[in-house]
Amino acid sequence: MKILGIESSCDETAAAVVEDGRKVLSTVVASQVKVHHPYGGVVPELASRAHIEKITGVVKQALEAAGIDKTALDAVAATQGPGLVGALLVGFSFSKAFAYGLGLPFAGINHLEGHIHSVFLTEDPPPFPFVALLASGGHTSIYEVQSCSRMTLLGQTLDDAAGEAYDKVSKMLGLGYPGGKVIDRMAAAGDPDRIAFPRSYLDRDRFDFSFSGIKTAVKRYIEDHPESRTNQVNDIAAGFQEAVVDVLVEKLMRAAADRRCRHVAMVGGVAANRRLRERLGAEADRLGLRLHIPPVSLCGDNAAMIAAAAYHRVQAGQRESLGAEVYCRGKVPAAPWPCWDARRLGCQEA
Ligand code: KG4
Ligand code: ZN
Repeated sequence: MKILGIESSCDETAAAVVEDGRKVLSTVVASQVKVHHPYGGVVPELASRAHIEKITGVVKQALEAAGIDKTALDAVAATQGPGLVGALLVGFSFSKAFAYGLGLPFAGINHLEGHIHSVFLTEDPPPFPFVALLASGGHTSIYEVQSCSRMTLLGQTLDDAAGEAYDKVSKMLGLGYPGGKVIDRMAAAGDPDRIAFPRSYLDRDRFDFSFSGIKTAVKRYIEDHPESRTNQVNDIAAGFQEAVVDVLVEKLMRAAADRRCRHVAMVGGVAANRRLRERLGAEADRLGLRLHIPPVSLCGDNAAMIAAAAYHRVQAGQRESLGAEVYCRGKVPAAPWPCWDARRLGCQEA
C-alpha cells in the first residue's frame, strides 16, 4: 500500500511516499529557514504563504522521486495538528482535495503520533512495548508505546520544550535561528564542564520536564559576563547542552526502568543532536537496553512519518471525513480513533 504523506505544521513543507508503513520510497522537505531567518523565529503568516508557494512542487517532486504516478497511490494523509493553524490548513486542504480528486481514502494525522512512527522507518524498529522520548521545538514528552495506535503519555515539559530552549539560547548568543543545529556544532568545540548550568529533574518519581530555568540561567550568565558572548560561546553552548542532555537521558532511562521496557526510542528534531545520540547510546549500552533512533533526516519534521502513521489507520479501514478540520493545540478530531486518545498525545479539548 503506497501512501502519500503531507506535512505543513510549522516551517517545513514536506511530502513523501511510503510503502506499507515501513519503506520510504521518497521524502522531500522544503525548508523555510531563509524566509524566517531575518526575524529570529517562525513568522506564522509568512509560513502559510511559503507553504502555498511550495506545496504543489514538493508533492510533484515526491511522486517523481518515488518513481510513481499519482494513480499508483492507495491513500493520502496529512498532518491535522497540533501546529500553526494557517500552516496546517495549507497541507491539510491540499491533501483533502488531492484525495477527493483521485477518489482515495484520506487520513488526518496527529503530528506527535507521526514523530513516534518515524522510528518504524528504520532498519531495526523496536518491538512493543517501548518507551519513547519525543523532543522537538514544540514538545518534550515521554510515552509508553504499546502498539501502533496505543501510546500513553508518561510525562511532558511543564514550560519550554527542549528544542525551544536550544533556539532561545542560540538567539541569546547571537547565533540565529534555527538554533539546535548551530548549538550542536559550537558545543562540540566547547568544554561542557567549564560553566555549570542547573539541571531540573523535578520530582524523581515523575517524568515531567522543565527547561525554562536553564534558559534563564544562560541569560543571567551572559548578562553577568558580557564578554562571554564573544570569547565563551563554545563553552556556554557546551555547558547548556550538557545540562539538557543530562536531564533527557536520565528521565528516559528512568521511564524505561519504571515501565520495565528493554527497548527505548528517541524521535523529534532534537533527536538529531550528536551529543544526545552519543550519551543516550552509551547509557543504553551500560544498562543493557536497545536504543532506536531514526536517521537524522527523519528526526526533524518530514512527511514520511505522517504516511507511516497513516498506514495502520487506512489498513484498519479508518477514514477521515473531508469535512474534518485542523487543530492547533485545542480541539481533538471529532471522532477519536478507537484505542487512541489524541489528548494523550498532547492535545486538549478546546
Ligand atoms: O521536530 P522538529 O523539526 O519540529 C517540531 O515539531 O518542533 O524540531 C525542531 C527543533 C528545533 O527547536 C531545533 O532547534 C531542534 O529541533 N533541533 C536540534 C537539532 N536539530 C534540530 N536541537 C538540538 N540539536 C540538533 N542537532
Ligand atoms: Zn515536529
